[in-house]
Amino acid sequence: MIQVTHLTKIYHSGGNVETTALSDVSFDVKKGEYVAIMGPSGSGKSTLMHILGALDKPTSGTYILDGENVEALSEDQLADIRNRKIGFVFQAFNLLPRTTALQNVMLPLRYAGVAKEERIKRAEQYLNMVGLGNRMHHTSNQLSGGQQQRVAIARALVNNPAILLADEPTGNIATAQAEEIMGIFQQLNHDGHTIIMITHEPDIAAHARRIIHIKDGRIIKDEINKRQRKIG
Ligand SMILES: Nc1ncnc2c1ncn2[C@@H]1O[C@H](COP(=O)(O)OP(=O)(O)O)[C@@H](O)[C@H]1O
Ligand SMILES: [Mg+2]
Repeated sequence: MIQVTHLTKIYHSGGNVETTALSDVSFDVKKGEYVAIMGPSGSGKSTLMHILGALDKPTSGTYILDGENVEALSEDQLADIRNRKIGFVFQAFNLLPRTTALQNVMLPLRYAGVAKEERIKRAEQYLNMVGLGNRMHHTSNQLSGGQQQRVAIARALVNNPAILLADEPTGNIATAQAEEIMGIFQQLNHDGHTIIMITHEPDIAAHARRIIHIKDGRIIKDEINKRQRKIG
């Protein structure tokens, strides 16, 4: 599903200042895996997330997503890949304000050109899946942090992307609700979804089936998580 080989990312900022955010990062993720990428602040997690999400390109190395070499794509093609193949979940939810849960989840389907009846049907289906069947007409500000993140997960999945990419998905959420989110991820993975979750928290990474440890822009350990934490 994902193949990254010898990825390097060097940022050039003011003058001759260079920051190497990623050095020689290589790994594969197969369909149906649930992977946590874990490392301390400044280790290169967000940089890697941006590359995996086709939001940024590496300085060198290759990235193949679902059979497509991302390096070779134009800006328009990258936008298209992001819409079709990747479901994003961000720490800050990034829902539209003053907009209902249902409308938020319908939006990606509009971009994909799906007819309105079908948009409503599919958005309802995904909101039910994340346990928000009774909150569809609440606006973002009428929902708790955990509920907003569940709306964001439904929105990320409604286009049936190849992978779900989550950057610190529980970073802004109270602990009990964070556990609910982890329960949803586990269910999604059980149902066959491929998940890559970025986190600095060992307790959160512990829910994944595989943990890639990153430090100073390098993979220092890539392990199967034998003690995967199960919810419920
Ligand atoms: N746009 C940028 N320009 C220059 N340096 C950056 C930029 N973004 C990140 N960095 C640097 O790259 C390194 C990795 O950052 P980042 O990927 O955000 O790490 P993390 O998400 O793990 O905290 C840090 O040293 C950071 O200061
Ligand atoms: Mg970060």
